[in-house]
Amino acid sequence: SEGFTVAIDGPAAAGKGTVSKAVAAHFGFAHLDTGLLYRAVGAKVLTGVDAIDAALALMPEDLEDDSLRTPEVAQAASKAAVIPQVRAALLDFQRSFAARAGGAVLDGRDIGTVICPEAHVKLFVTASAEVRAQRRYAELAGRGISDSFEQVLADVKARDTRDMERAEAPLRPADDATIIDTSRLTIEQAVAAAVAAIAAVQ
Ligand code: C5P
Repeated sequence: SEGFTVAIDGPAAAGKGTVSKAVAAHFGFAHLDTGLLYRAVGAKVLTGVDAIDAALALMPEDLEDDSLRTPEVAQAASKAAVIPQVRAALLDFQRSFAARAGGAVLDGRDIGTVICPEAHVKLFVTASAEVRAQRRYAELAGRGISDSFEQVLADVKARDTRDMERAEAPLRPADDATIIDTSRLTIEQAVAAAVAAIAAVQ
């Protein structure tokens, strides 16, 4: 599996993160949640730093900040993510990670289309907006963040629209991606579908 790359894309809260971690553990691949790069930039923007400057100065340790998982940071991330120079500043780090010996799983919005168009496997993990909002709502509630379901649904839809309609690297499945709709799948079923798609080409 020298340099074997798995690209996993999809909208917010579709289960990409869970599937990516499980797949990486199953095959012994390294995993990069590329949303964390944009969240780290978004978090800096919220403190007054210019988005492009933040992206150019990003350090690996910036990705380990627990406060990156808030709804405010998610919105700031998706706003910074429309800026082409922000995306360009994050490109080399992602491509180097993808080329790691031993295999790599990257999850995000543009991995199969822009970052790793030559990935060995491309998955597009999706679910209905209502199902995704319900999952995100439960996750946030579990962490003590008491946004209403309606607020979470509105946030998810706003992010979907911004991610899909931007000019640079819009969210869409690569032509050769395998679509996994997790709306009616358990976590175990979604992971099994991803593992099977990877095992088929490995
Ligand atoms: O995946 P996550 O929800 O953490 O991503 C936060 C935001 O970062 C997304 O809404 C999207 O705007 C942006 N993003 C991106 N490209 C990626 C990963 C994330 O534009 N590869």
